[in-house]
Amino acid sequence: MSAAAEHLTPPSPPADTGWLPLPMNTMEQHAALPTLTHDERVRFQVAAGMNTFLAQRLLPAVQRAASERVEPALNAELGRPPADRHEYRRGLERDPTWQTWSRLRRSNMEMVQQACRLTTLRQLPTLVETCRALNAGHDRLTLEPSLQPPGYLARLHSHLMPGGYVTDLGSDDVAAGATYELGVYAVLGGKSGPASDRAGRATVAWLQEHRPGWRPKRILDLGCGIGANTAAIARAFPEAEVVGVEAGAAMLRYGAARAAALGIENIRFVQGDVEQPPLGEEKFDLVVSLMVLHETSRAALGRIFESSQRHLAPGGLTFHLEQPPYRDKPLIEQCLRDWDGRYNNEAFWSSMHETDLAEALRRAGFAPGHVHETEANAPQVGATPKTQEDYGRGGAWYVVVGEKPRLEEVRP
Ligand SMILES: C[S@@+](CC[C@H](N)C(=O)[O-])C[C@H]1O[C@@H](n2cnc3c(N)ncnc32)[C@H](O)[C@@H]1O
Repeated sequence: MSAAAEHLTPPSPPADTGWLPLPMNTMEQHAALPTLTHDERVRFQVAAGMNTFLAQRLLPAVQRAASERVEPALNAELGRPPADRHEYRRGLERDPTWQTWSRLRRSNMEMVQQACRLTTLRQLPTLVETCRALNAGHDRLTLEPSLQPPGYLARLHSHLMPGGYVTDLGSDDVAAGATYELGVYAVLGGKSGPASDRAGRATVAWLQEHRPGWRPKRILDLGCGIGANTAAIARAFPEAEVVGVEAGAAMLRYGAARAAALGIENIRFVQGDVEQPPLGEEKFDLVVSLMVLHETSRAALGRIFESSQRHLAPGGLTFHLEQPPYRDKPLIEQCLRDWDGRYNNEAFWSSMHETDLAEALRRAGFAPGHVHETEANAPQVGATPKTQEDYGRGGAWYVVVGEKPRLEEVRP
């Protein structure tokens, strides 16, 4: 069997990988997906395995060091328990177990991201051609070459992804999208499902539970990335028109090609800044953002909420999904959950977790009685590694929703 044929054969997920991540060939296969050589597959397996090892196996040692060494030392030094996670972290950062764990985690993140980028760049001309051909068959991609992406996206390469989301190498570049798709699977060890769409499935599950029978006709996904989660929503509502807005052209070209390769025809991909989406007066029944807010500044977050208010139709619902806030958790857990904000190039992670998102949604124009905080989750699919909570990356998501009353409800 040729290497390409081997790649395209749908794999049977292993029945049980224990705590180890799922191998990369258990990803949902599609024509736009980068292929992996044997050596690349092994490199991913080692790096993803190390990532999971650090999160699953070494973490208890960090927790032990914190309670047995760091806390007593801090108590003695301060003459009182540490007041907040910043004081606690200063103690942790002096501890060799934390230092080793954190350094290894950071280096491993760099290794995973570099592996994704190298695999993508090795075959970039082929990926560009494939995506170009897939996108030539439809008109569901609208790019805006004059867009100036917000500085926080242009200057900051979130979670160490080389080039970040908005680098465009020109000539129909798709590198950011391909790098992102590989990276999500490797970092999460496949826990988000073969299509990396657990947040999208969680959104659908939440809607089915809380608005049973509701079929939104127009759906807007703010910061859709490569549209992996958008696809789960589009698949659940095949009769709906779904629009994904995203700043990165290379993310969108890849995302549109990916959707075409998967036979998903009801998503339109639009390049734009979600602080001010290029959608004129268009209205949507459902406006979502999935794991976007932690990558924007606090001011931008408010403007994204204003966008969701502006583009929401009367009777509609806005739904913003994020990692759960940790401000009320024990200090060691706060430090673990805050790790990405300090060491993984997630510059707005900490401030987002300190922001009262419900209050921010009210400030954006949603009436107090129409804003709710809730949780969403979706079952993992396929063979799933047996893992404990990976602080900051697992468990149920936090969601803030806002509803816009129908006109007859506000007019006497
Ligand atoms: C962590 S990714 C999540 C992508 C997608 N929602 C998902 O669930 O897979 C965040 C995405 O939001 C996009 N983004 C952040 N701020 C944006 C802005 N102001 N305008 C457009 N896109 C933005 C980034 O480019 C990135 O693709």
